Amino acid sequence: MRPVILALTAAKGGVGRSLLAANLAVVLAAKGHPTALLDLAPACQGTLDLYLGLLPERSWADLLPVITELEPRHLDLTLARYNEPPLALLATPPEVRAALMFPERGLEPLFRALSQHYAAVVVDLPLMSSRLTYHVLRWATVPIVVVTPDLPAMRNTKRWLQTLNKQQPWPWQVVVNQYARRAPMTLREIKTYLKASPDAVLPYDAVAAWQTVGLGRPFVLRRRRGLAGAVRRWAQQVLAGVESKNREAKRA
Ligand SMILES: Nc1ncnc2c1ncn2[C@@H]1O[C@H](COP(=O)(O)OP(=O)(O)O)[C@@H](O)[C@H]1O
Ligand SMILES: [Mg+2]
Repeated sequence: MRPVILALTAAKGGVGRSLLAANLAVVLAAKGHPTALLDLAPACQGTLDLYLGLLPERSWADLLPVITELEPRHLDLTLARYNEPPLALLATPPEVRAALMFPERGLEPLFRALSQHYAAVVVDLPLMSSRLTYHVLRWATVPIVVVTPDLPAMRNTKRWLQTLNKQQPWPWQVVVNQYARRAPMTLREIKTYLKASPDAVLPYDAVAAWQTVGLGRPFVLRRRRGLAGAVRRWAQQVLAGVESKNREAKRA
């Protein structure tokens, strides 16, 4: 069966894609979905190993020699394991090689091999301007764009959403992250500016973020309120949306 693929991108760096990808994957895994987390950041730019407190021995670079005939056993040898809850990470390569990206021709074999063992795949993508992102979005069950409540992030997001939606209407989830009462833009201004209501508004929460970014521990199951509670509610909402779409598709 084809796994549910949640793919997170952004129009600007540092908005919280990786932090949210790691914690979203933990929520899905804790609900009992066999889950894989893919760090498709360019070589030497990935952070998901840090955010899960792992020291992966292998990365997607190790798959490149077999990329067109990828099998589940190749993934078994390459994925790093997070234990509580069980979650598999495909890490980015640590070696500094300019512009080394996961190859587009590897996507179909990768998702096919993942579908043997995983019901949910969370993908941490490069920026919306990247060709790789565009190609992964075509596989995504739920494409997610993360934006912070400031004009540079909003303006770039609005431009990229307009550009991509001209090609086809993507079922975007628009997530405003790091929202605080004193944010540079109010929620009303954000709605007017993006001409859309955000699907989730996640609070600025330095303590929760630090647990993941500073200590390598996803915060989502350890804390009740703040960002953790908001991410759990949002994850629930995303899953409910996917399930209702699946039911509709079955009926049709
Ligand atoms: N909701 C939040 N509250 C506080 N800090 C956050 C929040 N989301 C992200 N951050 C911080 O923003 C920084 C960038 O996050 P990261 O997930 O690495 O961004 P990206 O992957 O989009 O480049 C990190 O230092 C993280 O702690
Ligand atoms: Mg990142």
